[in-house]
Amino acid sequence: MQSFDRRNWLKKSGLLLSGFTIGNGLLARQYNFNDDIWEAAPDGQIIRIGQNENPYGPGPMARKAMMDAVINSNRYPSELATQLRERIAKAYNLTKDHVLLGAGSSELLGNTAALAAEKKGSNAVSGDPTFRLWFGAAELFGLSIKKVPLTQDKVHDLDAMLKAMDAQTSMVYVVNPHNPTGTIVADSEMQSFAEKVTAKCLLLLDEAYTEYAGTTSLAPMVANNKNLVVAKTFSKIHGMAGARVGFVLAHPDTIKKLAAYQPWANAGPSAVSLAGALAAMDDLAFMQQTRQKNEAVRNYVTKEMNQLGLKVIPSYTSFIYYDSAAFKGDLAQVMTQANIMGVRTYENGSSWRRTSIGTMEEMQQFIKVLKANM
Ligand SMILES: Cc1ncc(COP(=O)(O)O)c(C=O)c1O
Repeated sequence: MQSFDRRNWLKKSGLLLSGFTIGNGLLARQYNFNDDIWEAAPDGQIIRIGQNENPYGPGPMARKAMMDAVINSNRYPSELATQLRERIAKAYNLTKDHVLLGAGSSELLGNTAALAAEKKGSNAVSGDPTFRLWFGAAELFGLSIKKVPLTQDKVHDLDAMLKAMDAQTSMVYVVNPHNPTGTIVADSEMQSFAEKVTAKCLLLLDEAYTEYAGTTSLAPMVANNKNLVVAKTFSKIHGMAGARVGFVLAHPDTIKKLAAYQPWANAGPSAVSLAGALAAMDDLAFMQQTRQKNEAVRNYVTKEMNQLGLKVIPSYTSFIYYDSAAFKGDLAQVMTQANIMGVRTYENGSSWRRTSIGTMEEMQQFIKVLKANM
């Protein structure tokens, strides 16, 4: 393997020239070529705690399945895609016609926004801050975004979101558990909100982190509801972010409309990724271990940070949201200097930051650097 030269890496990624501004830089971007900084550094030399990746994955069953599947990569994987759709459908008591696969769920968030934008001059209501990767594409399609601030406790303000809906609202977007804040809306509240919203327009419910939180998926509701789209991914609890497999669950009529935005429906993920995803669904032990380790490390980090005077929002996910006001100086810069990438900003001008939960060793290093610079 090529030896790792940190100075060259910083130069290549533009950090050396521009100073470290990843938080605000990412906040402002539509597409930023400097995103490559996340991939450029080999594991072990840079601590990557910025993208809510699962540091333990892929699990053993997915790894083996992916290695075995390489040999079949000369063939188009239509059968595997169907098998995965059937396997996913079984997990939610639905049929394969309720499932659409994508190269990560990001792709499908974009497709759902495109569907919502078919109604000219329409808007989407979203919490703020939120997972806004798809905002740029949505605006390009003609959908304006109405941002509704989270509550003081950094939870979705569902009442305010309902109030923000108007005759031109064609979609509401909710992430539950929420990214970047790690908070949840109770199952019963979410269900009644979903009923109210879908009586009027599409609800795009992003459940990327449900398995960490133990919240109930609303996916079974799509059987009788054409306005509900539930997005899920293999990137988080299954530890397969690089394999790029995500899916949405929706009524078959809605799936057909969403599939029209894919030149070849369900053909995004590779044969290798599909085989990995199929195996991952059966690896309950790996999911359980991930959950347990994540919780133990998250508790450790939360306790340490609280002791240092940094308020941490109780998290149900694989990342934490905290007020860095007690830290004097530029926390992101201090961490970057220590080869730790992962202090990100989602609220312009505020001291709130998000950091992913890495392994215990990684987070001990994060806390050590924090303490040394307080
Ligand atoms: C809330 C949320 N939705 C969707 C995604 C997209 O995941 P992917 O495109 O890797 O499936 C992410 C990734 O961080 C996320 O946090």
